[in-house]
Amino acid sequence: MTPRSGKDPKNARPAEASAPPAASPSPAPPVDEPLLSADEQREVFLQVRVERARVPRKFQNKTLENFETRRGKDYKEIVQMAKGYIDAFGRPGDVEKSPWAILYGATGSGKTHILAAILRELLGRGHEAIFYNVPNLFKDIRATFDGAEDLDEDELLNEIVDVEILALDDLGAEKTSDWVLDRLYLVINQRYESGRATLITTNHNFPDDLEKIVGSRIVSRLAEMCQIIGPFPNQDYRMAKANLQRRVK
Ligand SMILES: Nc1ncnc2c1ncn2[C@@H]1O[C@H](COP(=O)(O)OP(=O)(O)O)[C@@H](O)[C@H]1O
Ligand SMILES: [Mg+2]
Repeated sequence: MTPRSGKDPKNARPAEASAPPAASPSPAPPVDEPLLSADEQREVFLQVRVERARVPRKFQNKTLENFETRRGKDYKEIVQMAKGYIDAFGRPGDVEKSPWAILYGATGSGKTHILAAILRELLGRGHEAIFYNVPNLFKDIRATFDGAEDLDEDELLNEIVDVEILALDDLGAEKTSDWVLDRLYLVINQRYESGRATLITTNHNFPDDLEKIVGSRIVSRLAEMCQIIGPFPNQDYRMAKANLQRRVK
């Protein structure tokens, strides 16, 4: 401990008269200079919004810009369709301009990437959204039955019925049963009636093959409401990349 008293000569205060003239103070550091630039702040806020929308971590940084389109005009068309969809949106809450979309095509062709990119863009414009993988949604609903979830089934369903934009990834991948289809129908129909935007991805061809899985009640509403983004090129990006890496080695 350093002594506080003036007994120690090192700490003794010099007499006023002999005090040297005070050195001119160095300029104080600016207090309100932001640590992050405006762009960086926007990026941080957007990141928080994307996480809150429950976009899976792997897809949180997917954008239309980092979707490669060099492999063919089909990819460019997908990006154009996605941009057209985003442009059709009005301000947050404008139900007249809350288009729906279905993204369909083969596994690994980039549907979830484009879905996440669209959400990121819309969240950046102030819209509210929730991302749900459909098989996980039903797992969560089932978990409400044995109390494993904080929410009960109604709360969970209300949340996805009410949110401004709902993204349902991988429709038709869940194990369908009348119980699942009833709940899916309820969600789609209530959103249909309130005009809230819904985006859906599926590996099944739209509309015929999807209809065989989820039935005509759901698919006819989708057919009426959805802008189509697809079919995605019939190529598995993950496999193509792996093959390329094998060849390079
Ligand atoms: N054209 C592309 N450019 C960049 N990455 C892509 C492209 N297509 C797919 N990917 C990437 O490949 C992986 C699989 O794509 P994903 O969107 O999950 O496919 P799907 O949902 O159609 O099964 C993801 O990491 C995705 O970002
Ligand atoms: Mg996917």
